[in-house]
Amino acid sequence: MPHTLHYPDLLVCVLAAGKGKRMRSTTPKVLHPVLGKAMLLHVLHTVEELQPSGMVVVTGDGSDQVREHVGQPANLEWVIQDKQLGTGHAVRQCESVCQGARHIMIVCGDTPLLRVETLHQLAKAHMHSGAEVTFLSAIMDNPFGYGRVIRNAAGDIVAIAEERDASDEQKTIREVTSGIYCVKQDVLFKLLEKVGNTNAQGEYYLPDIVPLALEAGMRVQAVAMGDSREIRGINNRTQLAEAEAILQKRIAEDWQMNGVTIEQPETVRIEASVKIGTDTVIRAGTQLLGSTHIGDNCVIGPYAVLENAWIDDGCSIYAFSHINDASAGEGARIGPFARLRPGAKLDEDVHIGNFVEVKKSVIGRGSKINHLSYVGDALVGEQCNIGAGTITCNYDGANKHVTEIGDNVFVGSDTKLIAPVRVADNATIGAGSIITRDVAPGGLTLSARPDQRHVADWQRPTKKES
Ligand code: UD1
Ligand code: MG
Repeated sequence: MPHTLHYPDLLVCVLAAGKGKRMRSTTPKVLHPVLGKAMLLHVLHTVEELQPSGMVVVTGDGSDQVREHVGQPANLEWVIQDKQLGTGHAVRQCESVCQGARHIMIVCGDTPLLRVETLHQLAKAHMHSGAEVTFLSAIMDNPFGYGRVIRNAAGDIVAIAEERDASDEQKTIREVTSGIYCVKQDVLFKLLEKVGNTNAQGEYYLPDIVPLALEAGMRVQAVAMGDSREIRGINNRTQLAEAEAILQKRIAEDWQMNGVTIEQPETVRIEASVKIGTDTVIRAGTQLLGSTHIGDNCVIGPYAVLENAWIDDGCSIYAFSHINDASAGEGARIGPFARLRPGAKLDEDVHIGNFVEVKKSVIGRGSKINHLSYVGDALVGEQCNIGAGTITCNYDGANKHVTEIGDNVFVGSDTKLIAPVRVADNATIGAGSIITRDVAPGGLTLSARPDQRHVADWQRPTKKES
């Protein structure tokens, strides 16, 4: 595989207009995520690696939603297919955009497992052979749902039979077409003009260009794939789960090859956009979601859930911690049973212990919040010790207020900080305090405590016989 690919003569059409009826969803099929990334984005990112002259995406059902999700990459044009009359009809909508390109590659937006190496193999074979039509084929153990490659007695390709049009005998054929084609531009649209819709679905099928090309004396070739799993199309949610499992194995193996230890990998979820540094250990049951980024030499889990988290080198995230849109500096220790909510920013060497929730707060270097606390809308300085059960009372029922704590502050256990409030550097707050006014630097601040009584002759109640 060459380092960088470049196909200046090739334009890629991605078909993404189908309703995806079999998904039974209000979300367009191609936006369903596979390991946290929309199917269509998987396909587009793979196609981009080929560096074709351009890409054109055909949308129809949920067109606006699809465009909004994808954004506007350079080099990508959009085409609308108003009525979903079939894959052949979808390609015809691209005719004006395709003028000028020598070869057109057609890829379905519902095959997220495709690898760029495979598309490269197809494009190379097509251009070297001089065939008018080249498609990727594969041998499937369970060919149900795919177009079967029909060959004559001599073994030559004669046609493609779609599942719903195939005879019982044809249905036993395990050689299928991937739906991925490379066609010379100057013949593609002429062939498509001749494609009819007299079939079980009343649709204009792209694969029908195969017999038409052969009738016109053109060359059609199939390029066989080694790993048939790659061309799996996702048409329903069972196939979606199967594709996720295949992709998950691939992603876990890639990270293992890059120096990440994954314990019991079959229990771990690592989504497609996650990044992990070397010598990091991902322990069983852990879920790394969204744009989570983990540095080198970390230990994550078991059973930690991290979504869009930024974790620097040398951090430990212990069991059952939940981190969402939050970050931790080098050497931080979090959990077990900790929760970092959006906007929690921990500096280096911060310790967050069990049953501690931190939201929209900055915690300075070396500070510790080790037990049973809620810290929200707070700025905590360096080297502070926030005692067990400390609560920032940040919400008055209508508005949120900020708590500011300086450096080297000691907050005694079970303190309530009624925001807005400031605690200056080096202050010590006595346990059980309710802090309603700003705290001066240094010294000890504590609120009045209720009297303590002793009742010497008090008897514990005994359980009554029933
Ligand atoms: C298609 C192929 C089949 C192949 C299989 C591989 C046809 C007729 N069949 O079947 O030979 O084995 O893919 O996965 O081509 N689409 C449009 N407009 C339409 C219809 C579909 O843009 O009018 C898009 C869909 O969004 C989808 C792709 O084309 O991304 C394929 O359509 P789908 O309905 O999934 O076809 P399959 O039945 O899977
Ligand atoms: Mg499909």
